[in-house]
Amino acid sequence: MSTNSIDSLLHESRRFPPSAEFAANAVAKPELYDAAKADRTNFWAEQARELLHWHKPFTQTLDWSNPPFAKWFADGELNVAYNCLDRHVLAGNGERVAIHWEGEPGDSRSVTYAELTAEVKRAANALAALGIGQGDRVAIYLPVIPEAIVAMLAVARLGAVHSVVFGGFSAESLRSRIDDANAKLVITADGGWRKGKVFPLKPAVDAALSGAATSVTNVLVVKRGENDVEWTEGRDLWWHDALAAADAEHEAQGFEAENPLYILYTSGTTGKPKGILHTSGGYLAQVAFTHKNVFDLHPATDVYWCTADVGWVTGHSYVVYGPLANGATQVMYEGTPDTPHPGRWWELIEKYKVSIFYTAPTAIRSFMKLGREIPDKFDLSSLRVLGSVGEPINPEAWIWYRDAIGGGTAPIVDTWWQTETGAIMISALPGVTSLKPGSAQTPLPGIKIDILGEDGTRVDPPQGGLLVVSEPWPAMLRGIWGDPERFKETYWSRFSTEGDYKYFAGDGAHVDQDGDIVLLGRVDDVMNVSGHRLSTQEIESALVSHPIVAEAAVVGAADETTGQAVVAFVILRSDQEKAQTAEEASTILRAHVAEQIGAIARPRQVFVVSELPKTRSGKIMRRLLQDVAEGREIGDTTTLADSSVMQIISDKLK
Ligand code: PRX
Repeated sequence: MSTNSIDSLLHESRRFPPSAEFAANAVAKPELYDAAKADRTNFWAEQARELLHWHKPFTQTLDWSNPPFAKWFADGELNVAYNCLDRHVLAGNGERVAIHWEGEPGDSRSVTYAELTAEVKRAANALAALGIGQGDRVAIYLPVIPEAIVAMLAVARLGAVHSVVFGGFSAESLRSRIDDANAKLVITADGGWRKGKVFPLKPAVDAALSGAATSVTNVLVVKRGENDVEWTEGRDLWWHDALAAADAEHEAQGFEAENPLYILYTSGTTGKPKGILHTSGGYLAQVAFTHKNVFDLHPATDVYWCTADVGWVTGHSYVVYGPLANGATQVMYEGTPDTPHPGRWWELIEKYKVSIFYTAPTAIRSFMKLGREIPDKFDLSSLRVLGSVGEPINPEAWIWYRDAIGGGTAPIVDTWWQTETGAIMISALPGVTSLKPGSAQTPLPGIKIDILGEDGTRVDPPQGGLLVVSEPWPAMLRGIWGDPERFKETYWSRFSTEGDYKYFAGDGAHVDQDGDIVLLGRVDDVMNVSGHRLSTQEIESALVSHPIVAEAAVVGAADETTGQAVVAFVILRSDQEKAQTAEEASTILRAHVAEQIGAIARPRQVFVVSELPKTRSGKIMRRLLQDVAEGREIGDTTTLADSSVMQIISDKLK
């Protein structure tokens, strides 16, 4: 971010206090901050008791005797799926709609809590019949359809562990995730709808499971896309057949609060994605607490919609676990926002009278570009709370969101969190906080955040620094699957001292003159493209795996719509330089990255260069490449081994 824009963010003077009426009816009260301040761990214990059903109540709240490995509510037992389903039915809310699902072609289904519970019971029995039990890993590779939720909850009901892989990831990415977690079962579909077409999923599963022996014994296939699929007898089963054959009754058993719930892979600074591990009790308590208070949820009357794909953490915490634990009614939409027309999202808000809407700044900015006429055609008056997640939201987009979508009155909560934090950590509370555009503002009650300088001391406003979480929190990751050393090294080595553990988030942040937190983006080699995390190194590895490439460097360049975009610089092998034009090489390599990782990682541009800027010790200076990619004047080149390299590169690209 440029110094100019930080400056204007830090001096943002607009304030939007809650109306008296909103504050009077708000779920969150200012006293939450006082209670958490008075006794942080007890505050979380109270939330966990109030918001969840415990098969066996806990007596211990936090065990931090072996940092950075935390245990929350360790002697308690619960069943995550029971908390999301059965108890709502038993409380008399079985007829409440859990999911208003809308397929991209316009087909729709509304599923009540009673129906969802019944389906998950059958699915749990079907999985158990395939040998799935406590601790087993199940990979889920599905479109945004109700079966994705059913599959996740069925796995959770058995005390097993799901690993959801976003349907846009390639066969290669799926395979590496299956292998890393040693998954026994894959749940997929015969396709899903996207941009007016059925995209295949089953062929990617088949490709992923071909070749070397795998841990997978069965593949369950949901019928959705009506695509013809290849069938491996003995391994593949139709989901509907397996459920029809399964018993309808299933009693949920309690599992320890620290029983693993899921693994979710995310990009780090190395080429290999890390399997972030979340467990049950603490995670569910914090997602339920945040979903209720940050979105001002009134479960009997609100209709909530989070547009995230279930393949990302936002889908896990705020499509599946938070809303269902709270007994909310939600909308789930399979397709893209612009299919079959650019007003599709607004049409759905009108159709289902959505009152709480949660999406990413990239989407807001692309709608802004299309103009207000599109949302203006629809009745959006049901909306009363808006949320933003995944990347910084610039004040201009914030104001547009509030005016064009929120009727000029709906509060916006800018929620900062990560795959690793499991749940929202920094956000305003609607009805309590006076809102400020461009700032995530305040750590939630029970969350301790600090901004530190490089030397580990706290910085005072208006200085910038690095964001850390200074106390353990209930939904925190419990580790990286199979790699405790990497867990310690990645998150806890930078600022922790003996007896004082601090989690380093990888984000830069400022505190402004009012004490509000302004997020500035990643400080490591992680890019954020449309709110999705990508690693520069992972894309570089994909590029050099192509036979025409000798060397590659990737940077995240500022992009008006997507926040950042992937820009690659490659040196071709000498025998390849004449074999194709730079343009041909770029086309080949963009496709290659999409095939290796997934379409989300496809570079916006691939530049063929003859040199890369390196220090004397051989380290590529990505910062200088970023200057070129962003069309800026090139920064200090004095540490380069050959300072003329940047001139050659920028001349060539001109
Ligand atoms: O850089 C921060 C950014 O997204 C990163 C986390 O990415 P991921 O694990 O994929 O989770 C995304 C959804 C929670 C963070 O390190 N980020 C997330 N929310 C915000 C944000 N940056 C600024 N403002 C936010 N509200």
